[in-house]
Amino acid sequence: MNTSKTKDRYQIAVVPGDGIGKEVMEAAIYVLDALDIEFDYVYAEAGDECLEKNGTALPSETLDLIRNSDACLFGAAGETAADVIVKIRQEMRMFANLRPVKSYPNTNPLYDNIDFMIVRENTEGLYIAGEESYTDEGAVARRIITREAEERIIDYAFKYAKENNKNKVTGVHKANVLKKSDGLFKEIFYEVASRYPDIEAEDFYVDATAMYLITQPENFDVIVTTNLFGDILSDEGAGLVGGLGLIPSANIGEDGALFEPVHGSAPDIAGQNKANPIAMMLSAIMMLRYLGENEAAENFEAAILKVLNDANKLTGDLGGSATTMELAREVKNNLKN
Ligand code: NAI
Ligand code: MG
Repeated sequence: MNTSKTKDRYQIAVVPGDGIGKEVMEAAIYVLDALDIEFDYVYAEAGDECLEKNGTALPSETLDLIRNSDACLFGAAGETAADVIVKIRQEMRMFANLRPVKSYPNTNPLYDNIDFMIVRENTEGLYIAGEESYTDEGAVARRIITREAEERIIDYAFKYAKENNKNKVTGVHKANVLKKSDGLFKEIFYEVASRYPDIEAEDFYVDATAMYLITQPENFDVIVTTNLFGDILSDEGAGLVGGLGLIPSANIGEDGALFEPVHGSAPDIAGQNKANPIAMMLSAIMMLRYLGENEAAENFEAAILKVLNDANKLTGDLGGSATTMELAREVKNNLKN
């Protein structure tokens, strides 16, 4: 991510999508608007409603807008999620999937001092379309590890650590069994690590990591890993800190960057103004950091933290009775100007 402010004005593609996507987006933009930054929001459609209305879940204008904007804020899609969000990631070659895992007060984390980032390779590994097929015996999937993609993601992780004052990067693999593919990952990991002498580098097997995340999560700073392992470990991370309403993510690539909560359109609570907007807000904060707007990001995050400290001001999923927009107003009132 960038660390210095790059522009005075930003164009943001805003794709609220379906269900609570629209509600949490409204809440996040309400707070963004109170920050001292010039944003030009350009709204675009995608998702189930868009499919019904326009015959496609992801119009090409939406893709073009994302490509031509400084960043994209995405709410959630419904049943069309695979055709929307997975396609955007592929089309925009968003190779890095970032999922922060952080414990906040009043949210029932397993520990109070968890704060690490999972940097997951998003373009290869076991998840490539077309690399899975039926055979006479059953089915087979090929797991692709290329030097180029792994070096790019590992370097991204070290750069992220350097720019965000993280002291250590942990490479996660299974090189004892997958000697060639993950052997290569491990080799590249230490090659890249040697270019960052100030950052500690260590590597663990993925199964051991799954355990250490439970027993000593405070020892992790930045984890970098391949596609499938990153998918699994990031959900384990979400479980560590508890609650879909709190987990943001970023997809960063050569042709664009998109910031979205991990949750979906939540049809069970949609339209009731009770969705927790914090995951969307934390995604917007990741966007601010990506744009180099670190001061605004810190201001926004501190305001959320103040609200989290008062259990009465939270939404139903966190045991409170506030509405989506009541929580947003509290956050806005806690910004310092
Ligand atoms: P979901 O994340 O929408 O909801 C799971 C549960 O968590 C529900 O009980 C919901 O009420 C609750 N929840 C989620 N976000 C919340 C929030 N911000 N505040 C309070 N409670 C929250 O996942 P589910 O139910 O599996 O999928 C619903 C729809 O969303 C499906 O159509 C699915 O395809 C889509 N989806 C889209 C994603 C995306 O656009 N990136 C990701 C995951 C699911
Ligand atoms: Mg997953």
